[in-house]
Amino acid sequence: NLPGEVVIKEVGPRDGLQNEKLLVPTEHKISWINQLSSTGLTYIEFSAFVSPKWIPALADAAAVAKGIDHVQGVTYAALVPNQRGLERALEASVDEVSVFLSASETHNRKNINKSIDETFQVLADVASGAKTAGKTVRGYVSTVFGCPFEGNIKLEEVIRVIESLLEIGISEVSLGDTIGVANPRQVAETLDVLLKRYPSESLALHFHDTGGMALANILVALEMGIKTFDASVGGLGGCPYAPGAAGNVATDDLINMLHAMDIHTGVDAPKLISSARFIQEKLGKKLTSRKLQACQT
Ligand code: HMG
Ligand code: MG
Repeated sequence: NLPGEVVIKEVGPRDGLQNEKLLVPTEHKISWINQLSSTGLTYIEFSAFVSPKWIPALADAAAVAKGIDHVQGVTYAALVPNQRGLERALEASVDEVSVFLSASETHNRKNINKSIDETFQVLADVASGAKTAGKTVRGYVSTVFGCPFEGNIKLEEVIRVIESLLEIGISEVSLGDTIGVANPRQVAETLDVLLKRYPSESLALHFHDTGGMALANILVALEMGIKTFDASVGGLGGCPYAPGAAGNVATDDLINMLHAMDIHTGVDAPKLISSARFIQEKLGKKLTSRKLQACQT
């Protein structure tokens, strides 16, 4: 019951860099994103129009948007937390706006300084403004499978947040395993409930790989009909306001698994590895992707 094709949403330039201490110079980001654009990826989350005080590493989002080639067939998306972020994102001509919040009240407050309900009031305006400007809007729900502050999050809380996102016209909801604690059984049980309520096309999964279970989780989700997954080249990633989170599942490892299973992604593996190597060199540290490390020698 596996799909023939899967869409990978590359979040490395955003999720990957937001947590890095080293500030990657804008020109290197631009060059890296241009490399990613030539791999066959159809979706790149290139930065975040959040407060530069909160995420200094992505303060240059506007300059990045201006500098990169906007390749036809690739959607360039960015995170937007509020009206100010939307103004900046529209000025930068993003293709898609990504809003985000958490199913955990504590994580939401640590990450965006508001309660969940207050966040919805802000996001409803962002979504309607984005749509008026002709943009599609994606929505992230964090801590779906566990919270660094609250532990287990009830599925009812997750459903409440998904419902509210759908109400404000979000086209796709990405379910975040923010700190990489999900296990395959939990993913199956969660999707079993959610897929009775929502079509599989409206959901994506976003696994961090702290516990090394991201690929196993993805396999379960694939078998249950999910066809969109977020990933980060080299296995970069992490949320500075979610302690203990490792990087996202590595795009290079994910395509390695999918291609071996004869599931198409449209991504050229050698080109992707070379873009992973590029950012690894710029960051000056070994990235976690298995495939990348195996290709080093
Ligand atoms: P706040 O401090 O409550 O907001 O932050 P504020 O309105 O008082 O603004 C504070 C300052 O930031 C002001 O500047 C604003 O102008 C400025 P000052 O007057 O002090 O000079 N400001 C902005 N500047 C530029 N662009 C903006 C913007 N907004 C305010 N958009 C806020 C509230 C939401 C802004 C802040 O908490 C924030 O930016 N948080 C973002 C945190 C973040 O990016 N976290 C990581 C992404 S989420 C994630 O990683 C999870 C995910 O990957 C899925 C998963 O794994 O689960 C998506
Ligand atoms: Mg993330």
